Amino acid sequence: MSKSLNIAVIHGDGTGPEVMREGLKVLGAAAARFGLSLNLTDYDLGGERHLRTGDVLPDSVLEELKKQDAIYLSAIGHPDVKPGVLEKGILLRLRFELDQYINLRPVKLYPGVQTPLRDKTAEHIDFVVVRENTEGLYAGAGGYLKKGTPDEIAIQESINTRKGAERCLRYAFDLAGTRPRKQLHLVGKTNVLTYAFDLWERAFNEVGAADYPSIDRKYHHVDACCMFMVWAPEQYDVIVTDNMFGDIVTDIGAMIQGGLGISASGNINPEPGGVSMFEPVGGSAPQFTGKNVINPLACINAGAMMLKALGHGDAANCIESAVAKVAGELPGLGVGEMGIGTDAVGDRVAAIVAG
Ligand code: IPM
Ligand code: MN
Repeated sequence: MSKSLNIAVIHGDGTGPEVMREGLKVLGAAAARFGLSLNLTDYDLGGERHLRTGDVLPDSVLEELKKQDAIYLSAIGHPDVKPGVLEKGILLRLRFELDQYINLRPVKLYPGVQTPLRDKTAEHIDFVVVRENTEGLYAGAGGYLKKGTPDEIAIQESINTRKGAERCLRYAFDLAGTRPRKQLHLVGKTNVLTYAFDLWERAFNEVGAADYPSIDRKYHHVDACCMFMVWAPEQYDVIVTDNMFGDIVTDIGAMIQGGLGISASGNINPEPGGVSMFEPVGGSAPQFTGKNVINPLACINAGAMMLKALGHGDAANCIESAVAKVAGELPGLGVGEMGIGTDAVGDRVAAIVAG
């Protein structure tokens, strides 16, 4: 695998550039230690650019991004831009155009980190959510009838293809096979969404029985899953679910592992030559811009996920254990709770990674 990595960097809006600065600091330390060379290209995308130029994601930029090995994204979102413009125009467009059909979100409580679940420790919270990332309610199918009248109707349809569900399920079964517990939960709503999750459930059982007989298959309704995630998270190892439910349950996951300050996300195209994108789960938190109070560990962890996906598991593990150590030593992980600034948190992780 290549030791020279071409990485597109999207610094983003609000506090995005501050956490990305720390992410790149740690990535640089890991590259030096593990003999990698990073060819970073900055892309100015987000609310600031949109307000300045009217651009959202020019096609020429998209074409350039397709040629990179990976994309490292902090967060985009601007209070002066109408909700939906940047989310759909940049984030979702990149996920769809680059066919990043897996959204991978590890939920792992590091030793010494506070979780709101009293009595739960690092051994109880360590699972991964595999979220389908290109279909479902996010596909944008639907429309209006009689818009703007008292009889208005809005329809938002959930698109579920056998191919889309199956490739996501296969990824999740493969992932479950790499973990000691060999267990996969499908999370859905088969009792109400009887078309969409019937397709998912049949695909789950057929693919599982035919190709993954050693993986223990389990099913939970999404509402029960939310309950179990805060009541008995130790029963989860790998969860696979659709786009909308995955979005929702991973925000619970982020909270129980210590908050948005630490939770990272990979938008993965697992096919050969696929370009994946790595980001913190949280947003641009514009109200804290320039205050040096945002936790960069989520962005740093996203960098570790990126190195792992690019085949550099040793460098990724080195960053993740440094993050775990620093996270366990900080008094808290929330905004302003770290006792030290954004830059100092990055310095500490980078120093451990540098060895
Ligand atoms: C996420 C975010 C996005 C999503 C938004 C910003 C479009 O909440 O990455 O979870 O819903 O997928
Ligand atoms: Mn979300």
